Amino acid sequence: MALKRKIRELHKKREEVLTGGGEKAIEKQIAMGKLTARERIISLVDKNTFSEYDLFVEHEARDFNMDKKKLHGDGVIIGTGTIHKKPVAIYAQDFTVAGGSLGLMHSRKITKIMDYALKMRMPLIGINDSGGARIQEGVNSLAGYGEIFFRNTLSSGVIPQISVILGPCAGGAVYSPALTDFVFVTDKISKMFITGPEVIKTVLGEEISMEDLGGARVHSEITGNAHFFAKSEPETLEQIKKLLSFIPWNNSDKALAFKSKEPKKDYKIGQIVPDDPTQPYDVRDVIKAVVDDSDFFEVQEKWAANIVIGFGRLGGKTIGFVCNQPLVLAGVLDVDSSDKSARFIRYCDAFNIPIVTLVDLPGYLPGVDQEHAGVIRHGAKLLYSYSEATVPKITLIIRKAYGGGYIAMSSRHLRADFVFAWPGAEIAVMGPEGAANIIFRKEINEAEDPEKMRQKKIKEYKAKFSNPYVAAAKGYIDAVIEPEETRKLLLHAIDVSDNKAISGPRKKHGIPPF
Ligand code: HXC
Repeated sequence: MALKRKIRELHKKREEVLTGGGEKAIEKQIAMGKLTARERIISLVDKNTFSEYDLFVEHEARDFNMDKKKLHGDGVIIGTGTIHKKPVAIYAQDFTVAGGSLGLMHSRKITKIMDYALKMRMPLIGINDSGGARIQEGVNSLAGYGEIFFRNTLSSGVIPQISVILGPCAGGAVYSPALTDFVFVTDKISKMFITGPEVIKTVLGEEISMEDLGGARVHSEITGNAHFFAKSEPETLEQIKKLLSFIPWNNSDKALAFKSKEPKKDYKIGQIVPDDPTQPYDVRDVIKAVVDDSDFFEVQEKWAANIVIGFGRLGGKTIGFVCNQPLVLAGVLDVDSSDKSARFIRYCDAFNIPIVTLVDLPGYLPGVDQEHAGVIRHGAKLLYSYSEATVPKITLIIRKAYGGGYIAMSSRHLRADFVFAWPGAEIAVMGPEGAANIIFRKEINEAEDPEKMRQKKIKEYKAKFSNPYVAAAKGYIDAVIEPEETRKLLLHAIDVSDNKAISGPRKKHGIPPF
């Protein structure tokens, strides 16, 4: 009888906490197109698999009348569940409770689940919806953030860390997502900034809305802080599940194995690249023409679109794709595209995901803006990441591979394992026009008809270098192949690289050009 009474008491206590910040606050969330913190978790994990911990944690703040406030769950829900039948650790901040603000006990709940995730080697998913450091708790809130950032760094490269921004993520709070691997944002709901509109107005006298300062579009298209953009919360949650279908659960695991599936017939690999080398095409069509079921999951689609990165499968195995995009700025490398690809390469390398690189670029973007923005330092990140990566690296030169771009895009010299080229590949120090102007300047200037001479010299240069055979003669390219042979060769290269094992010199860590 006593037990029954105690169980009733437990139910009552649970129900009280499950009301979060109360009906009014919940209604406000719903009116904004948001789900509640608990709904978000339940929709994300496999049915009936969520176990919640620390439901009865209470805050210890006493100042500013906080001792009179009951904050259910201290504004954050933590627990474990499964996705694709594999374990995941989750926390979700509850904006209905003190604006999801982070005090000491709130942070302790988060760090507890982060420690579980690392110890059990499972992905960590953090759903952010918070006004930032709980102002009333002073330095304890800052300490809490520090503990989270430390653990984000410790877990980096060991378990996947996923951040979901479903509300405000303000002040120093933004640095946890920034330290994680993938950031998901939802249109009109996500807001991420260091200093909010109020501060900007006070300090700079400028008026800006939260949306224009750090909304979902801003971070997907301008800053590159976000990796996946969706129009609604349910779409964001689906994207997370899709990502998890591609990535391994930890750094000594392999991604879920799928059944190999031929690409869809709509993508005809021999007909994608135009005959005229000055004409663009969408490199994603080439990717879709080779990957299983033409299923390509693009990362950071709208930012630095001159390079395309993302996941696909070959023979059921996850592959990371890094591809110049001739459709945008002719596929040149610049500050942002170097950053974008360098980080992705490091992700793939940390998690044993082979990398396929598709090359078609005229080189690095010239200009004062780029030079002053640090294209030397940023461009070097790409060289560093490719050189450092020990996962299988397979390169296909589709068309242009000029200058530093040829070297940077996973060339043999940075230890690509296999380098293939299509017959239309052009490998040279620079494009024929620029090259002819420099090396034949004297002959062109002294000719009776300089333009005629220029065209003649361009033709001569093209005949010598605008092909893959000079590089093939030196063994820099392993095979010149027909477009239709691509999938077969990639599948073969992935298969034979399965047990690749190399190691470099002993060191604590390198010093990449951050
Ligand atoms: C304590 C907070 C809070 C905070 C919100 N609340 N943010 N409580 N600390 N940081 C409380 C509000 O007082 C309110 O409580 C409830 O949450 C809902 O907030 P509203 O303002 O009513 O909601 P809304 O109008 O939707 O505005 C949301 C918001 C705004 C834009 C996030 O609350 C805001 O600007 N908050 C401050 C954001 C910020 O500057 N944070 C940075 C802190 S410094 P009641 O009781 O009325 O319901 C920081 C440094 C960390 O984070 C450094 C780590 C390295």
